[in-house]
Amino acid sequence: MNSLKRLNPYINRYKVQLLLGVFFIILTNVFSVYSIKYVGKAVDLISDYLKSPSNNYALLLQQAGMIILFALISGVFKYFMRQTVIVSSRKIENDLKNDIYTHYQQLSLTFYRNNKIGDLMNRITEDVSAVRMYLGPGIMYSINLFFLLMIVLCFMLDVSTYLTICSLAPLPFLSIVIYKVSNTINQKSKEVQASQSGISSFVQDSFSGIRVIKSFNKEDKIINDYNESTLDYKQKSISLAKTEAFFFPLMLLIIGLSYILVLYVGGTEYMEGRISIGDIASFFMYINMLIWPFTSLGWVTSLKQRAKASMTRINEFIDAKSEIDESGTQEFHNGTIEFKDVSYTYPNTGIEALKKVSFKIEKGKTLAIMGKTGSGKSTIGMLLSRLIEPKSGKIKVNNIPINKFDLHSIREVCSVVPQDSFLFSETIYENILIGNSDATDEMIFEASKKACIYDSILGFDQGFQTKVGERGITLSGGQKQRISIARALVKNPELIIFDDSLSAVDTETEEQILKNIKHDIQKATSVIITHRISSAKNADYVLILENGRIIQEGTPKDLLKQEGWFLDLYRKQN
Ligand SMILES: Nc1ncnc2c1ncn2[C@@H]1O[C@H](COP(=O)(O)OP(=O)(O)OP(=O)(O)O)[C@@H](O)[C@H]1O
Ligand SMILES: [Mg+2]
Repeated sequence: MNSLKRLNPYINRYKVQLLLGVFFIILTNVFSVYSIKYVGKAVDLISDYLKSPSNNYALLLQQAGMIILFALISGVFKYFMRQTVIVSSRKIENDLKNDIYTHYQQLSLTFYRNNKIGDLMNRITEDVSAVRMYLGPGIMYSINLFFLLMIVLCFMLDVSTYLTICSLAPLPFLSIVIYKVSNTINQKSKEVQASQSGISSFVQDSFSGIRVIKSFNKEDKIINDYNESTLDYKQKSISLAKTEAFFFPLMLLIIGLSYILVLYVGGTEYMEGRISIGDIASFFMYINMLIWPFTSLGWVTSLKQRAKASMTRINEFIDAKSEIDESGTQEFHNGTIEFKDVSYTYPNTGIEALKKVSFKIEKGKTLAIMGKTGSGKSTIGMLLSRLIEPKSGKIKVNNIPINKFDLHSIREVCSVVPQDSFLFSETIYENILIGNSDATDEMIFEASKKACIYDSILGFDQGFQTKVGERGITLSGGQKQRISIARALVKNPELIIFDDSLSAVDTETEEQILKNIKHDIQKATSVIITHRISSAKNADYVLILENGRIIQEGTPKDLLKQEGWFLDLYRKQN
């Protein structure tokens, strides 16, 4: 039960509506059960007519009118019952989804590395829906069963205790059977769903990687793999269908048993003159009314179990804390940045990406970071923008530890051009606007001019309003990279981190971009991570990393004077 307790604050929010719902449930049941009483009376009138024909036609009409009237009133309340209970459950679902999404946004990169995207999506969609099914239909039907049973019992007992006990006896079995069958169905649907999402990600992967598949002649293999996974899906679906096929026959069997008992026991009671024909007729209807609630009892119990499991999964993510310390409140002011013995180990792989790295960049200066792939360059960039937190050592700005600053205020003034230039599937304009939502058209044009992408954008049919497709699929690697540079520049940042951001452009364009942004770079503190001497030669200071350690450092001029990694690379690239 514990995991579901977390729903209490949400339920409390809609307390009034839910209580009203309970009230409507009671009213619906009272009126619908009452209408049955008149059916019984009507049947008695008819059977009396057969015995001694007299003119009770008007009385019969009156009964019919009552049946219709009560059914109508009960219908109106049923409408209100759904309007309150089901609508509240939808609202709670919405609140829960929003809260989970907001929480997701606050979690750090480490969390995203440790969890699969599919899993994140499932918890916010399927698990939340499972919880909603419990909150809406689940709660509604349990309350409904309780009150309906109470009211119907009163009416039934009023007629005959013996008949009541006999006719109700099979119904608890109905609940148990439905519970068992629902559980198996749930289990199997879960397997079908898992198989389905496996196929979805497989298909998604194969479409995204269609270029690789075609160029390596892997179509046949892919088709085979696909057939294998659909075969698995087929088998699981058939197994599910077989279990589902049991559901109705079993239900009908038990209900049939109840009917036979009413007929047999009721018949004997009638023959002994204890009850009337109308009583038997109304008993059939009472049993009929109780079938769905007893069925739903089994169903609701399994709904509740599912909701519990889902809520446990949701809670797991809601309880996940960002490893980034967000307690800092001080407004960030750019200044001398200092790394002191900073080490970082990726928690998911245990790879120590940085080992006691120390360096300093003064405000407005440019630092170039070079080194082989996997040497820890991007890790420094992520530490600076506080996407990850150092495991040991200190990062200070103006001698103040970086975690004393308000996280938001750091990101306000810091621009990152990440190594993989990610674009959202929106227009180019909107993608650049992400850098600074207050940017005017002029600022966006200016930034794209600096990034040497302005002319290319105007060359597209719809210019800045061109949609870039999923992850920018319609653009070339170099175009994506330059849009991502424009996005970083439009912010007028005080701290810029270029992570290998010119790797996909030719050296001529690289020169041009570096020339264009010279002013921005001089104004801001810049970190340029690069594999090219041409990008690093104008920096104020250069760090060379290898396996997470600094192996060489100095101004480009000094480094060119000493034998070492930098000079070797200079010779090769020249
Ligand atoms: N998300 C991650 N999870 C686990 N380990 C990682 C992750 N990202 C990087 N690493 C590891 O950390 C080390 C440093 O990676 P980093 O990305 O900082 O290298 P880099 O110098 O930027 O390389 P490149 O020039 O290829 O971009 C590598 O050994 C890498 O395997
Ligand atoms: Mg990198």
